[in-house]
Amino acid sequence: MDIRIFKNEAEIGQAVGKLFCDFVNEKPDCVLGLATGATPVPTYNFIADQYAAGKVSFKDVSTFNLDEYCDLPKEHKNSYYSFMFENLFSKLDINADNVNFLDGNTTDPEAESARYAEAIAAKGGIDIQLLGIGRNGHIAFNEPADEFTGESFKIALTQSTIDANSIYFDDIPMPRYAMTMGIGSIMKARKIVLIATGASKAEAVKGMIKGEVTPQLPASILQQHQDAVIFLDEAAASLL
Ligand code: F6R
Repeated sequence: MDIRIFKNEAEIGQAVGKLFCDFVNEKPDCVLGLATGATPVPTYNFIADQYAAGKVSFKDVSTFNLDEYCDLPKEHKNSYYSFMFENLFSKLDINADNVNFLDGNTTDPEAESARYAEAIAAKGGIDIQLLGIGRNGHIAFNEPADEFTGESFKIALTQSTIDANSIYFDDIPMPRYAMTMGIGSIMKARKIVLIATGASKAEAVKGMIKGEVTPQLPASILQQHQDAVIFLDEAAASLL
């Protein structure tokens, strides 16, 4: 693991945003794996600013998001689909046909998982996968479990995740299930970039980097990835 520590989330947003823009400039038809949540917002803002300044184009880039809530209309303001358009895609020249999400309203999660795996493979696999980390060490919505997961699947969210994310749901109760890429699909990405910011992530970050590799702390699997870069602010790195 390549661990990089920065002063604050703004500096990380610049560093990770630059890493993504440089990569897109090198490989204009690259395939990006993207995350939602509060953590990547400074990165997405930096990327949008670079695009507005004419320094990068996303017209041939393809994206695959990590996860989506179940039983929530795609157009609801809290869907991850809406999040990505609001925070990033609407600010870029990306082709909407190249933007991919798991269908959280599928009636057949297994078929949906197979469809997503095939769509990723058809594009040649994910070049760079962006990740955040949950307070319980989850990546995407792979919650602590007895075994590492494989391809995408439907998961019941844990109380820790519901507590962390329900602040965003002011009109309806937060969904209890999500479709998520599995650990196996995430580990296939050629490069992984994980960002963790804030003291609430410090315990999970310590386990991810210094603890044993265990499905009880799903992010610990990244110790076994050949090209995982971890961007931390001082608060998230405080227990290392
Ligand atoms: C979101 C995702 C989640 C988040 C994690 C941290 O697509 O996959 O694993 O990265 O829950 O969320 P924030 O960034 O809101 O602290």
